[in-house]
Order: sequence, then structure tokens, then C-alpha cells
Amino acid sequence: MRYLILSDIHANSEALSAVLNRIRRKRWDKAIVLGDLVGYGANPNQAVDMVRSLRPLVAIRGNHDKVCSGVENGEMFNRVALQAALWTRQHLTASNLRWLRSLPEGPVVVDGTFAISHGTPIDEDAYIFGEIEALNVFRQTAFPLCFFGHSHFPVVFGLSPDAIQTVLTEPPSFRFRLEPGVRYLVNPGSIGQPRDGSPLASFAIFDSGTRTITIHRVPYRLERAQRKILDAGLPRPLADRLALGR
Ligand SMILES: [Fe+2]
Repeated sequence: MRYLILSDIHANSEALSAVLNRIRRKRWDKAIVLGDLVGYGANPNQAVDMVRSLRPLVAIRGNHDKVCSGVENGEMFNRVALQAALWTRQHLTASNLRWLRSLPEGPVVVDGTFAISHGTPIDEDAYIFGEIEALNVFRQTAFPLCFFGHSHFPVVFGLSPDAIQTVLTEPPSFRFRLEPGVRYLVNPGSIGQPRDGSPLASFAIFDSGTRTITIHRVPYRLERAQRKILDAGLPRPLADRLALGR
């Protein structure tokens, strides 16, 4: 089974289109979305519509989906994120608002094979930045493999019986095989707002047959996404950071 793993799209339909065009030539069996479909970018409905058209699909909510759809009020958000979330709430169609509100909280176990979470499988709003947070999650859970998002940083943490290992993935394409006896936490990176220094959209394909994960980076019409953000009256830093990949 080949799983298409998408995360942190953030209403960037330009980036998501580029990713979906790329995978048209790659075989995949099931789409998995790790949350934050909307918030920040200027095309929330297009992004949600594109995700909803993927079949079969397993999707969970992210912190921005909660605030943008009114599940939470965003009191923990900074000014820019909150401004974007309120703008998004006003522009989502009734159908997409309802659909976002209905997204489940992680962790969700997919096909009895792996888990997915937005932040961590313990707290959907918490971040895994480095080995300390990863070790904490490994200790408090038993999943052999869990995909997570939220940090917008593509990375692999592996826990063998005697050590924890961090694998930094490198653009434009990175492949590795899961080793037996090692547990993994894997972030496929962000499609709509990467923060690892590369502006390329990031996603993963997990082949459960060969136990191989590939992280792909895809260029997209970034200036167009920036222009749409500015034309919508969304805060300028949201446009600027797309080019920086931070
Ligand atoms: Fe996010």
C-alpha cells in the first residue's frame, strides 16, 4: 500500500496544485492529511476542495483548522495568525466550514499500520522540534510509526533500543527505509509554508510494502501565492516568509 502523506497546506492552493500535479505520475493508494489545511494562505476553499476530492482519504484536524472553523477562538494565536484565521472563517463556504469542524482529533491509527497526529499523539497542539520532545513522545506512546506535522519541518526521529537518532531530510528528494526494531516519528514537512529554509512544498509517500518513505520537494508558483495573500489584505509577513522557507 502506498500512502500519500500531506501536512500543513495552509490554504496555499498554488503549492497543493503543484504537489497534486507531481503525484499524478506516481502511484498512491490512500491520501493521509495531518491537519492545518487552512489558515495563513488566501485560498482556503480551493485547498479544502482539493483535499476533499482525494479518495480514499484519512484526515485529522490541526490547530488552525480548529480556529478557522470556530471550534476554538484562537486566544493562543499570535496577532498575524489570528487575523488570518478570522479572515479564513469569513471566507470559507458553509460546506467547507462544516467539513473542517467535523475533522477528528489525532491520534488516528491508519489500517492498523501507523498512527497520525497533528502536533504530537499526546497533545495535538504541542510541537516536536527536537530529540527531547521526540523522546518524550516515544516514552508515552507505543506506536511503531507515527507521522506528525505542526512544526513545518521535514524530519525523521528513530528510536532503537539504545539510541535516538535524528535524520534531517534534504531537498529535493530524500528516501530511507524503516529498519526493523526501530520506532519512528516522521514529519513530511509542510506543503503551504515550509520552515526548514527551503521554500519548496514538502510531502511524503510511505510504501508499507517496501517499508520505504520518500520525502519530495516541489517548486510552485510562489509569487502568485504571495500576490494573492497581499491582494486579500492578509498580513504581509505571511507573503514574505513563503520565499524564505521560514
Ligand atoms: Fe501548521
